[in-house]
Amino acid sequence: MKYLIIYAHPNPESFNHAVLGAVEKILKAAGRTYEVRDLNAMKFNPVLDRADFELGSKGKAAGEIEREQRHIKEADVLIFIYPIWWFGMPAIMKGYIDRVFAQDFAFSMDGERLTGLLKGKKAVIINTTGAPRDLLAGMGYEDAMKKTAEIGIFEFCGLEVAVHKYFYAVPDADEVSRRQMLEEIAKIIS
Ligand SMILES: Cc1cc2nc3c(=O)[nH]c(=O)nc-3n(C[C@H](O)[C@H](O)[C@H](O)COP(=O)(O)O)c2cc1C
Repeated sequence: MKYLIIYAHPNPESFNHAVLGAVEKILKAAGRTYEVRDLNAMKFNPVLDRADFELGSKGKAAGEIEREQRHIKEADVLIFIYPIWWFGMPAIMKGYIDRVFAQDFAFSMDGERLTGLLKGKKAVIINTTGAPRDLLAGMGYEDAMKKTAEIGIFEFCGLEVAVHKYFYAVPDADEVSRRQMLEEIAKIIS
């Protein structure tokens, strides 16, 4: 079983970075094979441009798209770690999806028939928020995330969303609750 961690946060002092560290520690202790794609550290270009479109329309990919697709192909479980920014994913993560989860790699369309080409792989999504759970629940937040991320992206491409975990109100959490949150990760990743 091979794991691919796709991580987006610019700050190595962030809670998200601590989440990444906790996930890596668990995978290492379990003797799992894994790779980390740290999108900010890689300075991943998130803009799907004309050249990408032209290659994509021929069913081809080059450069970092081709390289990232190779990583995804080799993995059985994709672990996405990112904070919620503006009720969605940071632009660098969205751009990774725009460019790497390309047609005829991540999904195919034959008329109205859609095939998720990443079928057989699992997705684990770990998100953090600034706002508390109750406030977000009142705005229909989890339902919105389910539609835009789980259904609209991951399941669309055939991935089975095994876990979608939220850590809420992270900036207000004290050291003890942060530690408890990090300990919860062991229940998600096995
Ligand atoms: C650009 C930006 C947009 C944000 N949008 C939201 C949001 O829509 N909902 C929310 O609950 N928190 C939002 N936040 C707060 C972050 O989600 C929160 O600070 C982060 O999850 C905490 O984890 P970190 O310490 O690893 O950054 C936003 C933060 C930034 C920088």
